[in-house]
Amino acid sequence: MAAILPYSDDSIDLASGMIRDGKVVAFATETVYGLGADTFNPDAIARVYELKNRPGGNPLIAHVVDLAMAKEVSDGWTRRAMHLVGACWPGPLTIILPRKSSVPANASGGLATIAVRSPRHPLARSLLYGCSRPISAPSANRSGGVSPTSAQHVASDYSDQQDLLILDGGPCTVGIESTVVDLTESKAVVRRLGSVSIERLAEILGAIEVDVSIEQNASPGSALRHYAPRIPATLVEKEIIAQVLASGPPAVVLCLESTEVEAPHVRIVLPPEADGYAAELYNAMRRADTTGCSRMVIESPPRAPGLWSAIHDRLARATSP
Ligand code: TXA
Ligand code: MG
Repeated sequence: MAAILPYSDDSIDLASGMIRDGKVVAFATETVYGLGADTFNPDAIARVYELKNRPGGNPLIAHVVDLAMAKEVSDGWTRRAMHLVGACWPGPLTIILPRKSSVPANASGGLATIAVRSPRHPLARSLLYGCSRPISAPSANRSGGVSPTSAQHVASDYSDQQDLLILDGGPCTVGIESTVVDLTESKAVVRRLGSVSIERLAEILGAIEVDVSIEQNASPGSALRHYAPRIPATLVEKEIIAQVLASGPPAVVLCLESTEVEAPHVRIVLPPEADGYAAELYNAMRRADTTGCSRMVIESPPRAPGLWSAIHDRLARATSP
């Protein structure tokens, strides 16, 4: 069993020392929990890939406390890049820029670019201040699974890792992974949808392109089946849920309050507003995995711009066969 420590000066000191010593530490951010290591230590980075069972070509996000730290790992700080981080940092926005040659190539899956993000969560910020260096961290799930939004989620994914320290910052308030924007081309390209919406980015940047199609994507980690629960899940419009439930074995149904579900099917209710829904979604998927049902039915939530479209992106991946 991994060790969970509450957020305190002592736990931050301990974890900062571990990061400096080349160890891996799991920690809270406002989006999802991360599995972090010193960006400038290639052996520590290799350990992150190994723990997560992540393909070596899938690059990591370097977490930084501010712009000065971001400039230690990335080049290409044009006015556009400064403007974007001025509007969105600290927060759930990741930008892709040219990687500084001093950064170990494996911190970015061997790419010439690197993703950087300044998290807003006080625990993540204290950890970055504590070790005073960038921390590369993917989401702290095992590769392909649902991202963790609590320390307990991380502990259950890494129950075989006695030595893993998890810094508990409570449940993640955003609940889905950061928006990723690629600034290495002349047009800014959104590679992953998140709570910083396309509409908001267009307001800040003017012209943007969106490239998040779930079949093909220039972000190596945006594989079709991703963020996936263990049991097969399908996305179903409210009107046909009853029909879907009528044929087949007992299902766990992730739905809104107004949808009724009768035994032997199991109901898990999600909040009606996009913010609350996103914050609860991964926890609901993980709970659904433990109900003993052999299938999951997810009621299709509202189709709307902003956060709902990011939620639909994750639902499409989680339910892709
Ligand atoms: O909210 C988040 O971003 C969380 C927290 C921990 O910060 N992190 C996270 O990391 O979601 P990860 O590794 O699970 O997802 C990073 C995504 C992947 O899809 C990856 O392929 C993409 O960002 N990415 C990272 N660096 C990239 C690069 N240089 N070029 C293109 N895509 C990149
Ligand atoms: Mg991930």
